[in-house]
Amino acid sequence: MLAFRPISSLSSSKSSVFRISKTALKSMSTTAGTPKFPFSRPRGAEPAEEYAHLRATDPVSKVELWDGSQAWLVVKHKDICSVLTDERLSKQRNRPGFPELDQGGKEAAKRKPTFVDMDKPDHMKSRGMIEDIFSREAIERMRPSIQNTVDTLLDEMIKDGCKNPVDVVEKLALPVASYTIYGILGVPFEDLKFLTHQAAIRSNGSATATAASQANQDLLDYIGGLVDKRVSEPNGDLISKLVTEQLVPGHIQRDDAIQMAFLMLVAGNATMVNMINLGIVTLFENPAQLADLKKAPSLAPIFVEELCRFHTASALATRRVAKVDITLGGKTIKAGEGIIAATQSGNRDADVFQNPDTFDMYRKRGTESAFGYGYGEHRCVAEGLARTELEIVFSTLFQRLPNLKLAVPLDQVKYSPPERDVGITELPITW
Ligand code: HEM
Repeated sequence: MLAFRPISSLSSSKSSVFRISKTALKSMSTTAGTPKFPFSRPRGAEPAEEYAHLRATDPVSKVELWDGSQAWLVVKHKDICSVLTDERLSKQRNRPGFPELDQGGKEAAKRKPTFVDMDKPDHMKSRGMIEDIFSREAIERMRPSIQNTVDTLLDEMIKDGCKNPVDVVEKLALPVASYTIYGILGVPFEDLKFLTHQAAIRSNGSATATAASQANQDLLDYIGGLVDKRVSEPNGDLISKLVTEQLVPGHIQRDDAIQMAFLMLVAGNATMVNMINLGIVTLFENPAQLADLKKAPSLAPIFVEELCRFHTASALATRRVAKVDITLGGKTIKAGEGIIAATQSGNRDADVFQNPDTFDMYRKRGTESAFGYGYGEHRCVAEGLARTELEIVFSTLFQRLPNLKLAVPLDQVKYSPPERDVGITELPITW
């Protein structure tokens, strides 16, 4: 008997939103009466119960952050759309009041920003330097090489066999995500393993702070070397593009080129890995849809679409600070106050998605966008790439390994810490 409660059992009926557990309710009140944020997922990948409660009772409310500061939490789909498109709100992390979620974030906010943390017009100018690398046509041209990467990794897994369970993160999810973006950046093949290793130390959360920071520096130094090399030997890759179009004519400086390439290297890596792992587990939680996908791998695009709604793997990034006083949901948000747009909550809003807590790749989709890749001008620049990678993985994996099984019961899958973005840190499989 699995201890993991299917998410569909958190029914979306109006009355169910009040079925919040006592533990969650307790976590919602601090001595000052303001709930602490981030909330914790109750189990596995299930969104925090507080979100459903707030959607029903107080959709624009105050929360208390790690350092005792307060920010506004926005949990309804329509209000989140409004936050993420409101030009009176800023994404500049160095503005007082920007809601940071930990000390590391506060330190990062002091560094020179990349376009992720800029507002118009700087944001568009800087994002525009790399955007066409991720255009629909460019991604279609990459499709065969991504398919080849997935096929090669699966060939290796099959060749090595699986006498013992194999960690899908190490053998498939991490290399697919890393090798693809490294190929775009122009990292030479012989350095792929070194870089993937350094990137894993930097972001997997199990290394010491010193080791993670050393790995971060090693990656920056490595990219610096590559930038210098491309000044004298440009070719068709993304670093060469930055060098020839921006650095050499003097539009940006060497450290800007390094930071932007570094952003590409790390921005989506952990999220890609998490989405691949979450996709595999979600299929085992929904065996009928797994059987359908095995029979018809062409269902992969609708599966991926629903996956990114159901699991919002990068939900804590969508934060802003008010530049002027605004009104939202009947509340006044003052200039200098922080706002967190809880996209994970918006993706489970019953006003927009019918039975939002049920995973249903066949669901009818309206014009409303899910927030899997964000919304508005800061929407994921690599959305097309991410979708394509996921579609290729899920149209190929169960064709090549039709007997793939999880090597641990569903209730023993190792998820990211409950107050962090949803993810899976390791996933042993057999086939
Ligand atoms: C399934 C995988 C991915 C998901 C779910 C995802 C999700 C997101 C989300 C939700 C945002 C919006 C953040 C915000 O509003 O602050 C975002 C932005 C961004 N993503 Fe992704 N992402 C994925 C893959 C990638 C990949 C592979 C890359 C790198 C090549 C990438 C690079 C970026 C960048 C640079 C931004 C900032 C865009 C801007 O501020 O203009 N993402 N992503």
